[in-house]
Amino acid sequence: MKAFSIFIRVPITLLLLLLLLESSSCTADSSVVNPCCYYPCQHAGVCVRFGTASFKCDCTRTGYYGDNCTIPEFWTRIRLMLKPSPSAAHFILTHFQWFWSLVNNSFLRDTFMRLVLTIRSNLIPSPPTYNTKYGYLSWESYYNLSYYTRLLPPVPEDCPLPMGAKGKPVLPDVKELVERFFKRQKFRPDPQGTNLMFAFMAQHFTHQFFKTNLEVQGGFTKGLGHGVDASNIYGEDLVRQHQLRLHKDGKLKYQLVNGEMYPPAVSEVPVHMVYPENIPADKRLAIGQELFGILPGLSMYATIWLREHNRVCDILKAEHPTWDDEQLFQTTRLIIIGEIINIIIEEYVQHLSGYMLDLKFDPSLLFGERFQYSNRIALEFCQLYHWHPLMPDSILIEGEEIPYSQFLYNTSLLMHYGVERLVDAFSRQPAGQIGGGRNSHQVVLKVAEMVITESRAARVQPFNEYRKRFNLKPYTSFDELTDDSEIARGLEELYGDIDALEFYPGTMLEKARADAIFGESMVEMGAPFSLKGLLGNPICSPEYWKPSTFGGETGFNIIKKSTLKKLVCLNTKWCPYVDFHVPRNEEEAKPRKPSTEL
Ligand code: HEM
Ligand SMILES: *[C@@H]1O[C@H](CO)[C@@H](O)[C@H](O)[C@H]1NC(C)=O
Ligand SMILES: *[C@@H]1O[C@H](CO)[C@@H](O)[C@H](O)[C@H]1NC(C)=O
Ligand SMILES: *[C@@H]1O[C@H](CO)[C@@H](O)[C@H](O)[C@H]1NC(C)=O
Ligand SMILES: *[C@@H]1O[C@H](CO)[C@@H](O)[C@H](O)[C@H]1NC(C)=O
Repeated sequence: MKAFSIFIRVPITLLLLLLLLESSSCTADSSVVNPCCYYPCQHAGVCVRFGTASFKCDCTRTGYYGDNCTIPEFWTRIRLMLKPSPSAAHFILTHFQWFWSLVNNSFLRDTFMRLVLTIRSNLIPSPPTYNTKYGYLSWESYYNLSYYTRLLPPVPEDCPLPMGAKGKPVLPDVKELVERFFKRQKFRPDPQGTNLMFAFMAQHFTHQFFKTNLEVQGGFTKGLGHGVDASNIYGEDLVRQHQLRLHKDGKLKYQLVNGEMYPPAVSEVPVHMVYPENIPADKRLAIGQELFGILPGLSMYATIWLREHNRVCDILKAEHPTWDDEQLFQTTRLIIIGEIINIIIEEYVQHLSGYMLDLKFDPSLLFGERFQYSNRIALEFCQLYHWHPLMPDSILIEGEEIPYSQFLYNTSLLMHYGVERLVDAFSRQPAGQIGGGRNSHQVVLKVAEMVITESRAARVQPFNEYRKRFNLKPYTSFDELTDDSEIARGLEELYGDIDALEFYPGTMLEKARADAIFGESMVEMGAPFSLKGLLGNPICSPEYWKPSTFGGETGFNIIKKSTLKKLVCLNTKWCPYVDFHVPRNEEEAKPRKPSTEL
């Protein structure tokens, strides 16, 4: 009996010992947290793991040193003392009328514009760095254009918590987040006076480079031009471009309806366009961007740019009767790209910024600076540009209220009203405030869910890490993020820790600046991506930015003198009210007549 018990006890103790060893080695392993999950490296220092539990911050050229890149070098200290905070800079740029009226009309305008461009674009790494697969520099990440780039690497896969090392073990339910903090209660117009003409421009413009490939996971884009390439007009690839081209005088194909030029029907130009199945090919419009059938506002812009392209072709051909179709087309495309960039900087960004500094599109401002003429679209840029709160409760056209059910994929509305009357209506109708939360119409709520779901799959780092990356102080509490105590309490309950707040909810729910369309983070993070993308275009480089590139002074001047108003009114029978701002006074608010001249 004794012998037996020993016989059995020994193996049991051994087994227990083994189990203990096994489990202790197991806990030993998982208790070693990847130190980079704590985001120890400040000021854009790079965290590299060594062994299992140690790390090093690479602080090279950050202007800081020390274990975590926290100690400023001498010149950094000086710079920090002289540099105004982002909120101070914003305050100055949006106040002191007398000062800016002096600046606007002197050489100082160039000085300030150059400062805006260099300070902003210096925040964007060029060549690009990470992507969704590679949280470290790699040739594949540099070379494979199918990825969106990333400013910050993904949250490491082996972190103890979804956002790194802080917050709750499970992220908030997406539906609940959207329902509680994104869903519109009552339409809140943008206090900066933004209208639908702006909203559709935003969507039309950005969808040339935000073209997420939803068929595969992993942060891929279909937009290989990575910037202002006008692929929303000409198509992404050569096959589509050739289908859309007339192959005569450089022009694009079109159809005439009541003597007016519109994009051709898909029955004539068989390119793929996304429409509900029941819509016949002769009602579908063939446009560079396959998604633009969804909203008459987008088909309207497509019509305007189509007319502009063909108008510029005529002008070029008159000066260059010997040029073939190809040269007329290619040169016109460069002019169109120039017009887009000019209008976006001098009117769109001007409006959005609220700056009293008169913004200027002049690539030569950067010719003396160190600046790379290349661009790669970042996943974070795409995420933060989901400005769906812009959309109103319904669309108002000449006293008629059109619900989304009759607006989305409506194929008759554009030609029924014509470009003039649509521009007029869209320019008069206020758009919603983007920031501050609770302003997204039901029809776009699903999109907010999709952004957040995508960002989790892509393991986008916490909002506060991006605040730091863009030289902003990380928020220390939810009450600092927003004045809306219901949102603050709700977010605190769901996330547990401000350092675990996700990127997109952070940019959208942050309190808006006084009388502004959105908060500090959207501007401080969005502007660098935007300006780098606009000025990083090859046409802005010293080799391209000269008259010959655009067929001579005439083409060059079309770019430099382009405005939204000319874009519309040189291509319409009469000139409607056209602006990115709702009417400011009684004069502008007066109804326009078909006889109004430009
Ligand atoms: C009623 C109007 C609109 C509808 C129905 C709509 C719908 C959608 C849908 C279904 C997506 C795809 C979502 C996803 O896969 O993640 C999307 C993406 C997007 N939308 Fe909208 N949208 C509207 C207006 C706008 C406006 C005014 C903007 C202004 C900037 C905008 C910006 C974007 C951006 C940047 C994306 C990401 C595109 C991409 O990653 O490929 N949308 N929208
Ligand atoms: C650097 O960061 C680590 C991890 O967050 C922290 O434990 C350490 O105290 C920091 N070191 C210094 C010098 O601040
Ligand atoms: C300077 O120019 C901008 C843009 O044209 C304008 O909005 C602003 O009112 C001007 N500032 C002053 C003080 O005149
Ligand atoms: C880019 O990477 C994806 C995923 O690894 C791959 O499927 C694709 O073929 C790559 N593209 C190129 C041009 O190498
Ligand atoms: C398209 O818009 C027109 C004009 O508002 C409207 O009469 C028509 O019913 C709409 N069509 C659809 C399919 O909703």
